[in-house]
Amino acid sequence: MKASGLELYNFRNYEKETVSFGDEVNIIYGDNGMGKTNILEAVYYFSYGRSFRASGREIIKEGEKESKITLDFNNEERNYKGEIKFLSGKRKEIYLNEIELKKTSELLGNFICVLFTPDELGIIKGLPDERRRFCDSSIIPLRPQFIKELIRYRNLINQKNALLKSRNYKTLDVWNEKIAESGSKIMLMRGSYIERIEKKAKEVQKEISGGTENLEMKYNPSVKMGADINEIKENFVKKLAEYEEKEKENCFSMTGIHRDEIEFFINGKNAKNYASQGQIRTAVLSLKSAQMEIIKEENGNYPVMLLDDILSELDKKRRDFLISQIKGKQIIITCTDIENSFKNDGANIINIKNGRVI
Ligand SMILES: Nc1ncnc2c1ncn2[C@@H]1O[C@H](COP(=O)(O)OP(=O)(O)O)[C@@H](O)[C@H]1O
Ligand SMILES: [Mg+2]
Repeated sequence: MKASGLELYNFRNYEKETVSFGDEVNIIYGDNGMGKTNILEAVYYFSYGRSFRASGREIIKEGEKESKITLDFNNEERNYKGEIKFLSGKRKEIYLNEIELKKTSELLGNFICVLFTPDELGIIKGLPDERRRFCDSSIIPLRPQFIKELIRYRNLINQKNALLKSRNYKTLDVWNEKIAESGSKIMLMRGSYIERIEKKAKEVQKEISGGTENLEMKYNPSVKMGADINEIKENFVKKLAEYEEKEKENCFSMTGIHRDEIEFFINGKNAKNYASQGQIRTAVLSLKSAQMEIIKEENGNYPVMLLDDILSELDKKRRDFLISQIKGKQIIITCTDIENSFKNDGANIINIKNGRVI
């Protein structure tokens, strides 16, 4: 999987710019606030259909009405051109090879990248929500239909919450049934993904730590797991029934996959509370590496690696590991200090200043 060129039009602080990528290491450098992360954000859109940033400022350049990003990419078989137009009111139009797609999910799975930023230490240390998001967004490029299920589930919960607030419970059972059906599918996907990534991440953690750190992951769903989809759904329905009175009292939905927890353990201790900063960095690195291996297994191609401001954060041991990972992959790195970046002959260097490639 390779991205060859990106065009930005009224995207964030870019007016009109083209960025060309080389097949191996690409280093984007420039001072803070110049627009480096914005480039990764645009590339990331083509894999996940959304930004990795918590919304805040608009995607569309201040004072403009619409924005467009275009990515040329290829896998071993063919070339693609993806186009995303951002229109007012958060509307989007998506095109793949000039054909308009009806749903974002149709874009996903064609171009796959994996992002690594210092913020992602939150996967271990942060709120449960960040762990769920990591798990879900790792599944999305492999199973684009999964995003539809997540959206469906969220809409169902919103509708149920509205119902609970209105205190008109006539159709509550109908919503609960639908939530159980959708939620059990999501649980099954999360459960099997976590099992799969744990095996690989564990090996990597062992390797980086010289055999001293044993990483384990545990899916701890809000509803009891079952052996198959039917059993999970039964458990779901039961749990929703148990919570019915409480939910009516509180006027919102209190159990389901939006309350799942994913736990990490290092040498048997819960990493969220007990792991050192170094162990956490290694764990995130191990997870990302495992995520890439799974994509390669499923897709036949390695994803493009996006590394945002990560190098200054890593010590030699972890940096060396990262460098050992880049072989045969395309990577796009941002940094403020080119001198202390990857010493890589033949890297494609992109210097950014105020939303311009210079
Ligand atoms: N919608 C927008 N319109 C204009 N500028 C924007 C918009 N959104 C973000 N920016 C600008 O983009 C810059 C941040 O870009 P970023 O890629 O995060 O920088 P860095 O090089 O530090 O990674 C800031 O100067 C910010 O003001
Ligand atoms: Mg940045």
